[in-house]
Amino acid sequence: MGVPFPVLLGVGAALGLVVVVQSADLRLPGDATGYEPDQPVAFSHQKHAGELAVPCLFCHTGAETGRAATLPPASTCMGCHQFVRASFAAVRAEDDLAKAERRDPRPVTSDAIRSLYRLLGRDDEGKRRPGAPEGEIPWVRVHDLPDFVVFDHRSHVAAGVACATCHGAVETMERVRQVESLSMGWCVTCHRQESGRVLPQPVRGPDGKVVSPTRALHPTTDCSVCHH
Ligand code: HEC
Ligand code: HEC
Ligand code: HEC
Ligand code: HEC
Ligand code: HEC
Repeated sequence: MGVPFPVLLGVGAALGLVVVVQSADLRLPGDATGYEPDQPVAFSHQKHAGELAVPCLFCHTGAETGRAATLPPASTCMGCHQFVRASFAAVRAEDDLAKAERRDPRPVTSDAIRSLYRLLGRDDEGKRRPGAPEGEIPWVRVHDLPDFVVFDHRSHVAAGVACATCHGAVETMERVRQVESLSMGWCVTCHRQESGRVLPQPVRGPDGKVVSPTRALHPTTDCSVCHH
């Protein structure tokens, strides 16, 4: 006599569940504080958002307009990196060397930018190879709420909650790190604290346009708003 199929299915499901729970455990937001995965390109927020002061919303356009903050497409990077092929320091060093050797400076492409080009299917000058498809960078997600939670960047941006309140000082990070637990208690505690707070002034977008007038905030503590 073999084992009846439904029993096998049940055992399989139980085993499957154990596997799911174990692997999900690694990514439970409560345990993911400090999570800082390696990325396929050594993109530095400290350099771009810090030193170069590129605004967060220039790259994360979705944060003002929708649920997801979104990551910039490779074309956003190439808008600059078609021309910027190495750090200013490396370009300056080549200029100085060329002057000392009484010759014209040669174009410098750093290893980091070369690997960016390669990942995007481009040659060492940053030009698309004939027939090569436009590549995208397979970034590794840092923050990731379970699918049964509704989070919306736009509501928070319109309420004047700064990126740094939830993500920390990203402009000082070489590599992005999750600094908050993203647990339900974290969300609800802030929602209770912010309840009734009046925005001291209208919230404006990067272009100066008013995103939200002065008003009293009433963030939800209703289960069905965060879960549906
Ligand atoms: C020049 C473009 C650019 C700018 C400017 C920029 N970012 Fe990013 N951001 C990226 C890219 C690309 C990634 C994905 C790679 C990574 O995680 O580093 C990312 C990732 C992130 C993540 C993690 C996303 C995840 O997977 O959970 C957060 C949070 C973030 N950025 C916040 C900010 C904040 C806050 C600012 C402003 C202080 C900012 N970024 C400015 C390009 C940018
Ligand atoms: C109230 C807290 C909060 C604020 C404020 C906030 N974020 Fe987030 N952010 C989150 C959470 C939570 C996630 C994970 C969302 C998910 O997994 O669905 C996230 C995810 C992201 C991601 C990953 C991609 C995505 O869209 O899920 C990026 C990039 C990001 N945030 C950038 C920003 C930037 C830039 C700002 C400011 C304009 C900002 N965030 C403001 C909480 C916040
Ligand atoms: C607004 C222009 C701009 C945008 C947009 C931009 N970068 Fe940069 N990036 C620079 C500049 C300028 C430098 C050199 C800064 C310095 O002197 O170190 C740089 C440096 C770098 C470096 C290090 C190069 C080296 O040799 O040290 C990498 C890697 C890089 N960027 C990747 C990216 C990626 C990936 C994106 C898209 C998500 C991006 N950048 C978007 C301007 C930009
Ligand atoms: C630092 C404070 C803070 C944190 C942390 C925070 N929120 Fe909010 N949330 C707000 C504020 C303020 C509003 C805007 C309320 C308003 O416009 O009246 C808001 C609005 C919302 C809304 C839109 C519905 C509404 O109440 O207007 C949702 C959904 C939401 N938050 C979900 C979440 C979730 C899920 C988390 C955790 C992953 C979270 N929030 C974390 C402050 C916060
Ligand atoms: C402001 C947003 C918000 C509200 C309101 C909210 N939750 Fe949650 N809830 C979350 C987030 C975020 C998680 C994910 C936490 C995690 O994965 O650690 C979560 C997780 C859960 C879970 C999964 C178990 C756990 O603790 O991780 C249950 C069950 C749950 N919520 C039920 C409820 C009920 C019932 C209510 C109403 C009394 C409620 N939630 C209200 C944001 C919210």
